[in-house]
Amino acid sequence: MPSRVWLVLAATLIPFVAGAELATQRQEQLRHLLRHDCGSCHGMRLTGGLGPPLTPSSLAQKPTPALAATIRHGRPGTPMPPWSRFVSEEEARWLVDLMKRGTGDASTND
Ligand code: HEC
Repeated sequence: MPSRVWLVLAATLIPFVAGAELATQRQEQLRHLLRHDCGSCHGMRLTGGLGPPLTPSSLAQKPTPALAATIRHGRPGTPMPPWSRFVSEEEARWLVDLMKRGTGDASTND
């Protein structure tokens, strides 16, 4: 097969594969953000503070896209600030998944 074809194939497939999962380094940055920045209002263990708890039981009934929108755009009129300058839509959903699984708080270190 001419090498040109491989180039086209690689150019098509690499972004697809890379997009399937956030880069490990980015996942670490987001966990850090969740613990330190979000934790300052939602509690170190995300069990609530100035902001409501972000624990699996408190989020289970709430749709992920709506929670991701709250993270990206904040809640005007409340202290919840918008984070869209720092997290993409995909990353906001990833954070919500993490909170729904209960693996984002400071008590877990995976
Ligand atoms: C300055 C304080 C503050 C910070 C920092 C903050 N939040 Fe909030 N957050 C709030 C408050 C207050 C609410 C409740 C808003 C309301 O009354 O509807 C809230 C609501 C939310 C909700 C909706 C919860 C629900 O049950 O509907 C989510 C999800 C959320 N925050 C995630 C985050 C994430 C993720 C971060 C960090 C990237 C973060 N918050 C940082 C104060 C904060």
